[in-house]
Amino acid sequence: MKVLAVSGSLRSESYNTKLLRAAAELLPDGVELELWQGLKAVPPYDEEDDVEPAPAPVAALRAAIAGADAVLFATPEYNSSVPGQLKNAIDWVSRPLARNPLRNKPVAVVGASTGAFGAVWAQAELRKILGATGARIVDGEVAVGHAPTRFEGDRLVDEGLREQLAEVVATLVAEVAPVKSGDVASTVAA
Ligand SMILES: Cc1cc2nc3c(=O)[nH]c(=O)nc-3n(C[C@H](O)[C@H](O)[C@H](O)COP(=O)(O)O)c2cc1C
Repeated sequence: MKVLAVSGSLRSESYNTKLLRAAAELLPDGVELELWQGLKAVPPYDEEDDVEPAPAPVAALRAAIAGADAVLFATPEYNSSVPGQLKNAIDWVSRPLARNPLRNKPVAVVGASTGAFGAVWAQAELRKILGATGARIVDGEVAVGHAPTRFEGDRLVDEGLREQLAEVVATLVAEVAPVKSGDVASTVAA
């Protein structure tokens, strides 16, 4: 089973990207996490450019989501919402709405900020945006506030937050499992 991890931050030292790397350490057996690193290359959405073939970075993102069993997003908070680059990428993926690769895809949202609240508003906004695409949003939240105090180097060292993150990842994976076993059952039956 493959989980695609999408960070809403472009910074090399991003706490949100580090949070996704921490999630990779907490996966159940048999699950791999791929960190998507193409966000900066996604052009600004222009409906006139939204034709086949799609711009290469957009096609790559759509294919990465389509090829993953689930997607884990980590978002910073920019002015009480999601960073524009993340919203822009999701806008690209969301079209055409009826058959966009996020439709029915299990997704989870976590977040980190340097402030006290751990990007909770941005997480709520991202869930709303993902809901508009038809993604299947799983319950659970990880709000990493005061992020510089929660990491040592690249490692998330707050044990409570690690447990919360492991729980969200487990919930996300469990959301995939019934669909996968259903697929197997129908293949066997056919
Ligand atoms: C343009 C901008 C706006 C921000 N707005 C908020 C905000 O509304 N709330 C908040 O808690 N932090 C805000 N921050 C601080 C970010 O949460 C902080 O920079 C965080 O570390 C960014 O995530 P990253 O480490 O993954 O890059 C803002 C930062 C930037 C650059």
